[in-house]
Amino acid sequence: MQIFREKKELSRAIDLKKKEGKSLGLVPTMGALHEGHLSLVKKALQETDLVVVSIFVNPTQFDNHDDLEKYPRDLQKDLDLLKSIDENIWIFVPSAEDLYGEEITSEHFEFDGLEKVMEGAFRKGHFDGVGTVVKKLFETVKPDKAFFGQKDYQQLQIIRKLTEKAALPVEIVGCPIQRESNGLARSSRNERLNDQSREKAAFIYETLQKAKDLFGTKDADYVIEWVEKQFQNHSFLNLEYFEIADANTLKKINRKQKGNQYRAFIAVYAGDIRLIDNIALN
Ligand code: PAJ
Repeated sequence: MQIFREKKELSRAIDLKKKEGKSLGLVPTMGALHEGHLSLVKKALQETDLVVVSIFVNPTQFDNHDDLEKYPRDLQKDLDLLKSIDENIWIFVPSAEDLYGEEITSEHFEFDGLEKVMEGAFRKGHFDGVGTVVKKLFETVKPDKAFFGQKDYQQLQIIRKLTEKAALPVEIVGCPIQRESNGLARSSRNERLNDQSREKAAFIYETLQKAKDLFGTKDADYVIEWVEKQFQNHSFLNLEYFEIADANTLKKINRKQKGNQYRAFIAVYAGDIRLIDNIALN
């Protein structure tokens, strides 16, 4: 397993592999790896010759200093996990200075409105930070394919848009959401939940599934009201938003139209820990 800490050094090694005709897969992560991340890595191993996993807690995408500080970090554990899957994975662990240079700031992006709703509305500047770091990673690694999870569905759509707008020669591969046995979507932030809270947080996915069933016969406004009611008197979980949107444009739906794909999105606080999830409705 090779670990690279500087982009210059990684670029050089990648150029050599490209000359050998190897295809390259990139899996960007912020570490604290779990089965969700590993499913992306496994997919990348199936589809490309050489897989680069980046591990970098990107400061510019955090709108909340406390969340950044408390973000779980355990590099050794991450390396062990990756090694247990495949010894030939390359790992890129840059410092912020190396990746960004002296000024750690983000570029401003417009993604045709995708950046304005949900996570974009509730986490100011979040997608500028994500776009900035992913663009830098793409420039360094020059992957043929890059793998992202549907767990962060809005992020996935934004990366597709970023790639399309900048005409980057990379294929974006979306991968299904991995869940714990009780249905809770796997997340690095789950590490901060104790056992009891994890059980309670299973309510999020249970509600999404019921919302999906309801959406079969009712309109979006009815389902939204119903979900909001489920959380109104919840003793532990605080609903930040629940939205039903077109799966491609992420625009709120007015009326169901045949042939369109819809998705429900949710953000919930479990104490001070923010959890997101989503589900395909049709
Ligand atoms: P992070 O939260 O570490 O997630 C890295 C990748 O793993 C993302 O594509 C995310 O959608 C995927 N992922 C996380 N949990 C998952 C789950 N339960 N099932 C399937 N995929 C899952 O997302 C980021 O990091 C950052 O924003 C990043 C893209 C690395 C830019 O900094």
